[in-house]
Amino acid sequence: MSQPAPEVGSPEPVGEESEFGGREEIVLWEGLPLMPSVVRCWDGIQNFAARPDDILIATYPKAGTTWVVEMVDAVLAEGDMSRCLRIPTFNRAPFLELNPLPPFPSGLQLLQSMPSPRLVKTHFPVHLVPQSFWDNDCKVVYVARNGKDNMVSYFHFQRMNQKLPEPGTWDEYFTASLNGQVSWGSWFDHVTGWWKAKEKRNILYLFYEDMKEDPAREITRLAKFLGKGLDQAVIDRIVDHTSFSSMKDNPMTNYTVLPSFVFNHSVSPFMRKGEVGSWKTQFTVSQNERFDEEYRRRMTDPSLIFRTEL
Ligand code: A3P
Repeated sequence: MSQPAPEVGSPEPVGEESEFGGREEIVLWEGLPLMPSVVRCWDGIQNFAARPDDILIATYPKAGTTWVVEMVDAVLAEGDMSRCLRIPTFNRAPFLELNPLPPFPSGLQLLQSMPSPRLVKTHFPVHLVPQSFWDNDCKVVYVARNGKDNMVSYFHFQRMNQKLPEPGTWDEYFTASLNGQVSWGSWFDHVTGWWKAKEKRNILYLFYEDMKEDPAREITRLAKFLGKGLDQAVIDRIVDHTSFSSMKDNPMTNYTVLPSFVFNHSVSPFMRKGEVGSWKTQFTVSQNERFDEEYRRRMTDPSLIFRTEL
C-alpha cells in the first residue's frame, strides 16, 4: 500500500554547534550515574505533572526505545502512517530528562506544549520515575533487551552521540558497563527493578527479542494494552512500518535530521544492526564468561528470562 509523502519539515529549531557544549562527564546523583544536564533540571523532572492519558515509554538506553515509540505511535494512529511521518520521533515522544543547553529544547519544554495524549520517553530506573505518573495510573510500556546486545549497542551509541562521555576502548567500556558506571546506571538494576514494579503498576513489559521474533504478536499485545482493537491488515501495516529496514530509511525515525555535532552517523549509524546476537562479534570469550558470571550472581528471579540468541 502506498503511503503519503512525509511532511519532513524541520525538527524543533536547534542551535549552532558553538552553543551545543559537547560531551558531558557523568556524575553520581541519587546513587545513579547521570549527565550533569539531567541533574540541572532535577526538580522540574521530579515535579513533572503527568496527565492521566500520558503513555510513559521506559527503557534502559539502547533497548529498542525508538522502535517501540514507533509501534505505540502507529497503534494510536490506528495504522494511519501519515500521522507518524509528520515529525521526528524525538518530538513525538519527548525525552523527559533531556536537558541540553538553550536554545536546544528540553524534554520538559516539549512536553509542556504538547497536546494529549502525550508519549513520554524516559531511561530512568523505576524508582526515579516522577510520582505523578503513578498517582495518575498512567500506562507504561517498558522494553528490555538482553544485556549483551544492549551493552554493545550502547558502546557504539556513545561513540556517535556527541553529548555522552567518550566510551574508551571496548574493553574499558565492557568493565565500566558491567559495573554500572555508565549513564543511567546498571542494566541489571534497571531490568530487574522494572520487572518487579509490574506486579503493582500498569506496566506492559516487552522484550526486544520477542519483538524481533514475532512483531505482529507483540504489536497485538501492545494494541490490547493501549485499548485499541486493530484488525490484521492494520497490524500488518504497522509491522511493515516498524521493520528495521523501514525505520532505517525513514528520516522521522533514524535521527539523521539531527546535525552531526549531535549524532555523528559516520562514526556509527543510529540504526546500526537491529539484531539479536550481534554481541557475538564484539564479546571476547573471557568477556562472555565474565558477563555470564555476573548475570548468574545478579539475576536471581527465575521468572525474568532473557534470550541472547533466537
Ligand atoms: P543496535 O545498535 O544493536 O543496532 P534505542 O532506540 O533504545 O536507542 O535503541 C537503538 C537500538 O535499537 C539499535 O540497536 C537500533 O538499531 C535498534 N532498532 C531500532 N529500530 C529497530 C527496529 N525497527 N528493529 C530492530 N531493531 C531496531
